Amino acid sequence: MEYRVWRRRTAGLLLLALLLLAGCSGSSREGPVTVRIGVALYQQDDTFISTVVQHLEQFAREEEQARDIKLNLNVADGRGSQSAQNEQVDRFLSQGYDVMCVNIVDRTAAAVIIDKAQAAGVPVLFSNREPVEEDLARWEGAYYVGSDGAQSGQLQGGIVLDAWRGDPAGLDRSGDGVLQYVMLEGEPGHQDAAIRTEYSIKTVTGAGISVEKLANDTANWQRAQASAKMGQWLKDEEIGPRIEVVFSNNDDMALGAIDAYRAAGIEDLPVIVGIDATPPAREAIKEGTLTGTVLNDAKGQAEAIFELAYALSTGRDVKEAVPRLEGQYVWLPHRTITIGNVMQEFDD
Ligand code: GAL
Repeated sequence: MEYRVWRRRTAGLLLLALLLLAGCSGSSREGPVTVRIGVALYQQDDTFISTVVQHLEQFAREEEQARDIKLNLNVADGRGSQSAQNEQVDRFLSQGYDVMCVNIVDRTAAAVIIDKAQAAGVPVLFSNREPVEEDLARWEGAYYVGSDGAQSGQLQGGIVLDAWRGDPAGLDRSGDGVLQYVMLEGEPGHQDAAIRTEYSIKTVTGAGISVEKLANDTANWQRAQASAKMGQWLKDEEIGPRIEVVFSNNDDMALGAIDAYRAAGIEDLPVIVGIDATPPAREAIKEGTLTGTVLNDAKGQAEAIFELAYALSTGRDVKEAVPRLEGQYVWLPHRTITIGNVMQEFDD
């Protein structure tokens, strides 16, 4: 073969090989291979929050397999301290995380985190503890995933209403036509605490039933604190024997109330209602100690958080990833859970 022809052919083959190689490497790399998600929690041992995190971790494991990517989920516990959480957020930003999920300790302190996230160009996704609206509006890269507190209160009130209508004499132990109750409240300042308290009672009184509040106090979402508070009320002659309904802003405190009745040796429980539908609360419904609860959709929230985080960190369309997204908000609906549906609703 003539040298000139040989050189042309070799050059052509080389070019072809190079083009093929370039084509191959380009098509196998769509989006980042590793997605790093920083998760900052207000308090990891909170029962509901730990349920959300378990679902989040499960989604990450499943999606790693399904989407053939590496998902690095780093969970940090703020242990109730906003300054500790701010440091964790700083660490996520300095370590180049793709997206942050923040279950903020103090819901009035979001502006600082949003401004830092914006400066670093890292989307930030709040959940469960809702930042004030003006703060979230500071940057379109900030989102909130949660559930409507008023709806949970209304559904909780609805459970009590059904119990009253189903067995008026059984519930109205004093027979005075008035519903005597105590209220165990969540953390002061948390959007859900005041709203659930207000709407559960409004639902009952709105249906024409008179109520008498015997006592109310905060137990900060916690079972042990609720048990201690309830123990004091049970010892009080003016309160304990007169309680017909225990309203609780969440399940852990409702379970604390049941603990206190047990500790006092009282077996005949009044109507006790919670919110969350955590696994232990579902067990209590099955054993008949908890009258009912309202599903705070831990799995649905985790899925929305995960899908949003994944879409944001890979540049995918957020609305397509999470069709429930309205502006910067994702709202997950609640559902009533009682003995009538607890078995069908959950497969555990
Ligand atoms: C509420 C939930 C509580 C507690 C709290 C923490 O929505 O019902 O059980 O987890 O959030 O912020």
